[in-house]
Amino acid sequence: MEIKKQTRLRGELTVPGDKSISHRAVMFGSLAQGTTRITHFLEGADCLSTISCFRKMGVDIERNASEILVHGKGLHGLSAPSEILDVGNSGTTTRLISGILAGQSFTSELNGDASIQSRPMKRIMTPLQSMGADIVSIKGNGCAPLRITGKPLQAVHYQSPVASAQVKSCVLLAGMYADGITRVTEPVLSRNHTEIMLNYLGAKVTSQGTTASIEPEPVLKAREIQVPGDISSAAYFIAAGLLTPGSQILLRNVGINPTRDGILKVCRAMGADITLLNVNEEGEPVADLLIRSSQLHGTTVEGSIIPTLIDEIPMIAVMAAFAEGTTVIRDAAELKVKESDRIAVVTEGLRRMGADIQPTEDGMIIHGGKPLQGAKINSYLDHRIAMSFAVAGTICDGTMDIVGGDCVNISYPEFYKDLYSLGEC
Ligand code: S3P
Repeated sequence: MEIKKQTRLRGELTVPGDKSISHRAVMFGSLAQGTTRITHFLEGADCLSTISCFRKMGVDIERNASEILVHGKGLHGLSAPSEILDVGNSGTTTRLISGILAGQSFTSELNGDASIQSRPMKRIMTPLQSMGADIVSIKGNGCAPLRITGKPLQAVHYQSPVASAQVKSCVLLAGMYADGITRVTEPVLSRNHTEIMLNYLGAKVTSQGTTASIEPEPVLKAREIQVPGDISSAAYFIAAGLLTPGSQILLRNVGINPTRDGILKVCRAMGADITLLNVNEEGEPVADLLIRSSQLHGTTVEGSIIPTLIDEIPMIAVMAAFAEGTTVIRDAAELKVKESDRIAVVTEGLRRMGADIQPTEDGMIIHGGKPLQGAKINSYLDHRIAMSFAVAGTICDGTMDIVGGDCVNISYPEFYKDLYSLGEC
């Protein structure tokens, strides 16, 4: 995928629906009574994997141009799949569905692509096993493929060693099938879409600090779910708008849940001109984001903000390379176990462009402001790497060639079209 330099980005864009919320809408809609209507659903490959898994368990899910209709089966209405559940590239599908499968009355197997088969699953196996679940890594390496046989589950209070919404959600979902109140405490608060949506559908989930608790056997009732624009997808256009001189762009209807909005805080700390318009805080908060090009400088990104921007770090690193001064990113060792090792892969790509970047055990140090050139960048089939370097390619001189650039279809199938829709080439 070859990327062209852009000048002056102008206009408006509605980014695709939030990936995390789209997954949950299908999953929880499948367990609800009645038909859940989902609008602005993300039609990316990851969320389509979730649809395919639930269809294999007997859920009737209709897709048309403007909406998804999930004809829910209730908490105990899923049926045994006759084939392996294919989770594709999706960590969210794998980890959340495992919590649901642990409480069913059947055995199922999950598997996905090469990336999924190397991502850590012990982080969900350990808490599920402590609840009495029968979940095994078939190859014995703590990764997918997984085999899960439903069992009666005991409620636990799980102290998670990682701030991970996937782990928290997995345990809470298993908690729906347990014999009492299940609690999860995490070191730092991670995204809370599961808690918000389960409550919206009628479950009793409470949150206090970094502890979330769920009462068992909720009766979930189908309701309309309007998926906000994905702030993780908006991040590429925030960066492009800030870094391309003379730009002014409006990103419509972007989710700004405080457990996801770290990118806005970091951009502002770097000197960004971002204005929130039409803020609506009912349910999942949303706003329109007005982005004007800005002179950016370095900052430090660390501590409790990390889970609120974990998927945006590749884009932040690229922005830091264009900014003046030094940016330090720490407390982000989780980057090593994403769709690729994002510390290593970002370092490789930015160095190829001529940037001064040092990888560390839990982040990176970037001395920005060096002249950057287009280069041949390997995405390692990681969608967030491909999109971050595509944005870099619209700003730097020379040709940017992204190897494996098609992987953007995981979370943003129309990405390249949208990227060119705002510019004057
Ligand atoms: C997600 C949680 C995060 C995030 C991922 C989506 C979710 O992963 O990186 O893209 O939908 O719950 P972790 O839970 O591993 O931090």
